[in-house]
Amino acid sequence: MSTLELFNRARKGGKVVMKVVEHLEGRTRLVVPAASLASDPPPTSPVFFNPAARLNRDISVAVAVASGGSSFCDSMAGVGARGIRMAREAEGVEAVTLVDFNRAALKAARRAAVLNRVRRKCEFAESETSSYLSSRFGRDMRFDSVDVDPFGTPVRYLQAAVSATADGGVLSATATDTAVLCGVYPKVSERRYGATPLNNHFHHETAIRILAGAIARLGAHIDIGAEPVAAHATRHYVRVYVRVVPGASRADSVLGELGFVSWCPACGHASSSSEPQRQCAVCDRRAKVAGPLWVGRLTEPKLVQEAEGAARERGLLDAASVLNSLVGEGYFPPWSYSIERICSSLGVASVPEASVRRRLKEGGHSVLRTPYETTGIKTDAEYGEVLAAVKESTPGGPLVRTLARRKGAG
Ligand SMILES: C[S@@+](CC[C@H](N)C(=O)[O-])C[C@H]1O[C@@H](n2cnc3c(N)ncnc32)[C@H](O)[C@@H]1O
Ligand SMILES: [Zn+2]
Repeated sequence: MSTLELFNRARKGGKVVMKVVEHLEGRTRLVVPAASLASDPPPTSPVFFNPAARLNRDISVAVAVASGGSSFCDSMAGVGARGIRMAREAEGVEAVTLVDFNRAALKAARRAAVLNRVRRKCEFAESETSSYLSSRFGRDMRFDSVDVDPFGTPVRYLQAAVSATADGGVLSATATDTAVLCGVYPKVSERRYGATPLNNHFHHETAIRILAGAIARLGAHIDIGAEPVAAHATRHYVRVYVRVVPGASRADSVLGELGFVSWCPACGHASSSSEPQRQCAVCDRRAKVAGPLWVGRLTEPKLVQEAEGAARERGLLDAASVLNSLVGEGYFPPWSYSIERICSSLGVASVPEASVRRRLKEGGHSVLRTPYETTGIKTDAEYGEVLAAVKESTPGGPLVRTLARRKGAG
């Protein structure tokens, strides 16, 4: 790694000197602050670059190839890691606009554009994201894809981002306020996203669905249907891709996919409905309710499969694996079961998830490892059937006998 340049940034009369280095990501040579490769998390000032967000950007490149647009707006570009990669790696993308209000960041992005010989495809706008995107509201000025990648919540930029996305185009947004979306601060989620979160074993999926639901409602305000086509999550962020289709009837049908997820902490039963169900249908106790949120499918199967192929062709194997894990998710209800949690509520040692999956499949059910949490399964089986499969999977035969023995001993 060699030092490329020192550049100065006037700040309150003083100067900030930033050492930058060249960093290869995918097939693209980026120009990044040296400090960003030396500390985790990387510094946010004077310019931010997070090497750990590589997977996030790899998936972005694959989705852009699959969705087939020719113009891309990296509306919070930083050093241009996403935008320059689009120009360099996503054939079909002919024009990339990189927006950031940080002049030093855009300077690094410009340099990377030259290094990768994509300068002619790139336009740079030193501007505030919302005001820039709002200025691209006109029908012939919109982008085939718009990406919003802020520090924290993307909510304040989404209205402008929806209106700057072309008909049939794709808007992507990252949210790093995961503690809020995953239910640690429910009041903040209600204020920001207009939805109650759920702090349980499927909180990342709920977080994704709250963000997708918020985008759907923002689109509907201006007669646009904004429907998810892909989504993924890590501990640090959730990310959704939505397709933007104009029309009041489309907006109405999208709103029809909003609803509530109820989950009973006492017995583990989960359900979804168009109105909040606050009482567990199985044990009658008080259920927790998340929403309003997106309860429909989170993926467009064709797009996800093509994106997986595009990732594989480029050797972006982790991205291909994430995209592959999404295949078929639309078939399942909007929650998952944690086998670990079920075992602990039964007071038995953990059983292998694979064994529970196998038993459910033998019983004629569909099962998917949830793509959104570190563990857990999605299935069309009723909770009682999942419980039965767990019990049958416990070593030494059906759990019922064990429990009966214990009861007898007690
Ligand atoms: C999380 S970083 C983006 C990282 C970049 N997308 C990447 O993949 O490396 C957020 C960037 O948005 C810029 N930013 C934050 N708020 C902004 C705003 N309101 N208008 C313009 N740029 C903004 C920051 O300067 C920063 O460079
Ligand atoms: Zn219950």
